Amino acid sequence: MDKFVVHKSSLKGEFVVSGAKNASLPIMAATLLTDDECILHNIPDVSDVRTMVRILENLGKVVQWTPGTMRIRSRRLRNYVAPYRLVRTMRASFCVLGPLLAKRKKAKVSLPGGCVIGSRPVDLHLKGLSQLGAELIVENGYCVGSAAGLAGTHIFLGGHFGSSVLGTANVLMAATLAAGETLIEYSACEPEIVDLGVFLKKMGADITGEGTPLIRVNGKRQLHGAEHTVISDRIEAGTLIAASLATRSALTIKNIYPLHITSVLECARRMGAVLRLKRNSLSIKPPRRLHPVNITTLPFPGFPTDLQAQFMVALCLADGVSLITEKIFPDRFMHVAELQRMGARISRSGPYAIIEGTRSMYGAEVMASDLRASAALVIAGMVAHGDTEILRIYHLDRGYGRLEEKLKPLGAKIKREKQ
Ligand code: EPZ
Repeated sequence: MDKFVVHKSSLKGEFVVSGAKNASLPIMAATLLTDDECILHNIPDVSDVRTMVRILENLGKVVQWTPGTMRIRSRRLRNYVAPYRLVRTMRASFCVLGPLLAKRKKAKVSLPGGCVIGSRPVDLHLKGLSQLGAELIVENGYCVGSAAGLAGTHIFLGGHFGSSVLGTANVLMAATLAAGETLIEYSACEPEIVDLGVFLKKMGADITGEGTPLIRVNGKRQLHGAEHTVISDRIEAGTLIAASLATRSALTIKNIYPLHITSVLECARRMGAVLRLKRNSLSIKPPRRLHPVNITTLPFPGFPTDLQAQFMVALCLADGVSLITEKIFPDRFMHVAELQRMGARISRSGPYAIIEGTRSMYGAEVMASDLRASAALVIAGMVAHGDTEILRIYHLDRGYGRLEEKLKPLGAKIKREKQ
């Protein structure tokens, strides 16, 4: 197991954002909808992608991955089981369920189990797929299903916390091969769903409305192979914006889609940053003193929950009191206790965190609890006086490809060591 040792750093220069993990995973799952070859570009080299490769290989796909390009072909083996040993390490594996039911008519996919960021049920996935005609039962920790013939219908996919990103992905993928028309109402509008829609259309699917709360799908008898370049990672971009604010470092962030991060840019502006956007590049100049702001996480185009922890670090150093309200995963606050150990002044009550800005934080030995919390601790380490040791950095590697190697040329003092 690796750990990071981080020293106070100030950053300068250009950072190029990688492909989006959360777009890549469902798109890789979508290749199960065809036996033809699919070619994907810009897939990030992160451990969650490697997990999805293992799941696809287990399901009979042959995956060739050279830097930049992934080719996915089919073998004769047509397994339909995604086992617990793979699924438990990554919840996104559950989005093979829809494509398996639609294409192979059978699926046995482990339920993902508990998650450190809070309760993450899959009831909406199951509801949508059942309404399409799949027969699903949950037994011995697995969702076991069959689908003699899926048929399009009108599905309301809203839940207690609004739309579901991977729930929408699962139902959308299954609907592409269902007979007739499917309407998915209260579908997630995230850019990753739009990118999945674009890929499915390249495979021959008939979809309209992706990126809106009402997606319409006209089912096809079969889909074919396709080639696609995955969008860039808005969460990696946002993480760099938070790092720039917290460390008060002027940066240029390249390979971004500004429309994917409008709420984040708005937040950075309210914190006092001066932003210059030029096509797919952002120059950010943080203020000397950060303004406190209130942030509420919401489904897209609202402020993403996946950037809550990173922005919390910047707010720890603002001139005043900020309030964060977590509306997607109300328990996603594991990083609070670790930041408190580094001198942050945060009090938490239910889905609220009140952050009282302080002038400085100090290094400590801290524990990464999940992917985005790890990124927050890296940022905290770069602003803290003294050494910060971040244990269990494998969480970070799930979604950021060798982040330390991308940050070092900017001046970050980060070392990866054996724990
Ligand atoms: C996706 O998870 C992302 N994962 C998460 O990113 C992200 O935090 C989340 O969307 C929200 O934006 C991937 O794309 C691989 P949801 P997902 O279903 O789809 C509730 C990261 O750090 N819900 O949109 O699993 C759920 O509990 C990860 O990269 C139900 O009630 O999230 C939550 O409150 C972490 N029933 C809300 O909906 C369901 O069946 C939104 O969750 C499904 C979800």
